[in-house]
Amino acid sequence: MKGVILAGGLGTRLYPLTHVTNKHLLPVYNKPMVFYPIKTLVDAGIDEILIVTSGPHVGHFLSVLKNGKELGAKHLEYAYQEKPNGGIADALALAEDFADGEDIAVILGDNTTDESIKEAVTSFKEGATVFLKKVTDPERFGVPAFDPKDNSKVIRIDEKPKNPASEYAVTGVYLYDNKIFDMIRECDPNYAGRGELEITQVNNLYIDKGQLHWKELEGFWSDAGTFQSLFTSSEYWSKKK
Ligand code: DAU
Repeated sequence: MKGVILAGGLGTRLYPLTHVTNKHLLPVYNKPMVFYPIKTLVDAGIDEILIVTSGPHVGHFLSVLKNGKELGAKHLEYAYQEKPNGGIADALALAEDFADGEDIAVILGDNTTDESIKEAVTSFKEGATVFLKKVTDPERFGVPAFDPKDNSKVIRIDEKPKNPASEYAVTGVYLYDNKIFDMIRECDPNYAGRGELEITQVNNLYIDKGQLHWKELEGFWSDAGTFQSLFTSSEYWSKKK
C-alpha cells in the first residue's frame, strides 16, 4: 500500500499564522504538524509517500521534509493542487498516477493520532475503511449514521450536520482501493454547498456499493485546523511519554 498526505487548503482558520507558512508546517508541540501523519504511515510499513499541497508557501515543504529519508520514507513525492480549496477529494485525485493501481492509505495533514493503523493496513482487502472516533463536538466533522438494526453498519455519512446522527467523527484517516479515482470523477462540487469535492461524498459512494468498512480509533486523535484544536493537539503531544 502507498501513502498520501493531503496538505493543501489555505488554512484560513489559522490566519495570521498561515500568512507565515503552510498550516501543516506549523508546530504541534515540538514538530511540524505534517511529521505526525508521516510517522503514522511509516510505522504502518508505508514508505512510499505523496504529499499533496498548495497555496503560497508550497516551497517550504522541500526545505523541511527534503527527500523524506530522515523521517523514514524511502520515496517522497510532491503534487501541487491548483485550486487550493478545491476540496479533499480534488486533492486526492492528484494521487492517481502515484498510486499506479495500488491501494492507498490517506491521512489529512492536520490530523494527528498515536493509534497504529498497521493491522488495518495489513488486513485491507477492498473498498474503503474509515476510522471513527467518539467526540464531544461531532457537528464539526463528517458524522456516521449507523443502521438501527445492525450498528456494525454505517448507512450514511453527513458532512458537518447541525443534528449529528451519532457521537462519532469520521477522522481524516482512510484506506482506499484503486476504485477511489473513479468515485472522485462522480463527485459534485455542490454536494455540501461549499464548492469543494468532498471526501464525504466519496465515502457515501462506497456505502452505496456496500463497500465501506469502519474501525474505531482507540488512541488519541485530533485535527489541528483551528486555534483550539491546534492547542489541544500540542498539549496532548507535550505530555505524551
Ligand atoms: O479532520 C477530519 C475531518 O476533515 C472530517 O471529519 C471531514 O469529513 C472532512 O471533510 C474534513 O473536514 P474539515 O472541514 O476539517 O477539512 P479541512 O477543509 O480543514 O481540510 C482538512 C485537510 O485536508 C487540510 O488540512 C488539508 C487537506 N485539504 C483540504 C482542502 C479543502 C487539501 O489538501 N485540499 C483542499 O482543497
